[in-house]
Amino acid sequence: MLLKQYKEAIESSNIVSKTDINGIITFVNDEFCKISGYSRDELVGVNHNIVRHPDVPSSKFEELWDTILSKKTFKATVQNLAKDGSTFYVNTTVVPILDEKGSIVEFIAIRYDVTKEVELRLENEQKQKLLFLQSRQASLGQMIANIAHQWKQPLTELSLTLFNLKKSFSNKEEFENYYYESKEIVQNMSKIIEDFMNFFKPAREKEYFLLHKAVDDALKILSKVLKEENIDINFQYDNIEFLGISNELSQVIINLIQNAKDAFKQNNIKNKQINISIREVDANISIELKDNAGGIDKNIIEHIFEPYFTTKHSSVGTGLGLFVASMIVEQSFGGKLFVNSAGNTTTFMILLSLPHKKGCKCCR
Ligand SMILES: Nc1ncnc2c1ncn2[C@@H]1O[C@H](COP(=O)(O)OP(=O)(O)O)[C@@H](O)[C@H]1O
Ligand SMILES: [Mg+2]
Repeated sequence: MLLKQYKEAIESSNIVSKTDINGIITFVNDEFCKISGYSRDELVGVNHNIVRHPDVPSSKFEELWDTILSKKTFKATVQNLAKDGSTFYVNTTVVPILDEKGSIVEFIAIRYDVTKEVELRLENEQKQKLLFLQSRQASLGQMIANIAHQWKQPLTELSLTLFNLKKSFSNKEEFENYYYESKEIVQNMSKIIEDFMNFFKPAREKEYFLLHKAVDDALKILSKVLKEENIDINFQYDNIEFLGISNELSQVIINLIQNAKDAFKQNNIKNKQINISIREVDANISIELKDNAGGIDKNIIEHIFEPYFTTKHSSVGTGLGLFVASMIVEQSFGGKLFVNSAGNTTTFMILLSLPHKKGCKCCR
């Protein structure tokens, strides 16, 4: 009697089916018919893979069968196909039912519908991918502009040297000097390209790198601009190794420095200063960038990490820089990006947790 009530309680609130040991359906409840779009007659007696979705790899099914045939319960979110070709997602628990000798008699699957939740998650992931792509395109554009900028001077030098080379045609020694000079300029130009290219290679494997190296790389990429804009950088650091992708951290630092640079310009600051520090504090690492570029207004500071939020003209800002920076810090480094503005200064802080050492207290 009690058992019957349990059964009714489960069946009225869940999607339930039973199969024999070969996966042939022996029972479905109304909820199963409703979500799959099949009638009971169409389901009972056929293989359960009638609702199998073609996008689910067969390894998933091997895992399912391995689990339940070894008399264990299987739990997963499964993508299924309804009769009308639509997709639904169900949180699934498959329990093997054993007889008194311990042999499997049948399988009961209890599920509930999570289609809405999964679709929302997939949609968000899609959106984020698009934002990353857009921001990557924006920074690629910036990089190309930077290369073009850094090439201007050597190109002028090169055409001058080539002109001299032509003039010195009859003087072997002079001719050779100009030749080597040209060669050096070309080498320098290809070095510039290489620096940028290395930087833009798609992310590789995580490896241990020195945090301050990533900052140095960012400063190197920006060296020309920093010099031209007279921005003074003061960089102090502890030697800390971290597991991750160095370029991604450089990318974050570049975004933060670019923003300070824009603010210096916008606010017409004379004595431009950026203090950068990397410190180990308790079990955390803080990477701080503090500028005196005018500060951020109270009314906008809570929005600056939102995608497309910008106070700049569309030719200067995309509003994606800080969004992407915070995503990288969270997803790639498991950390968090904070901002604080007081008076005319702005401080961005990347907070990371220190990697655990072998045999450390909390891991024992
Ligand atoms: N160091 C800073 N000083 C002043 N304002 C800043 C600073 N960094 C960011 N901001 C503000 O945050 C906004 C969003 O920055 P970001 O996401 O990088 O987009 P974008 O630089 O394309 O505008 C900027 O438009 C600016 O108003
Ligand atoms: Mg920016």
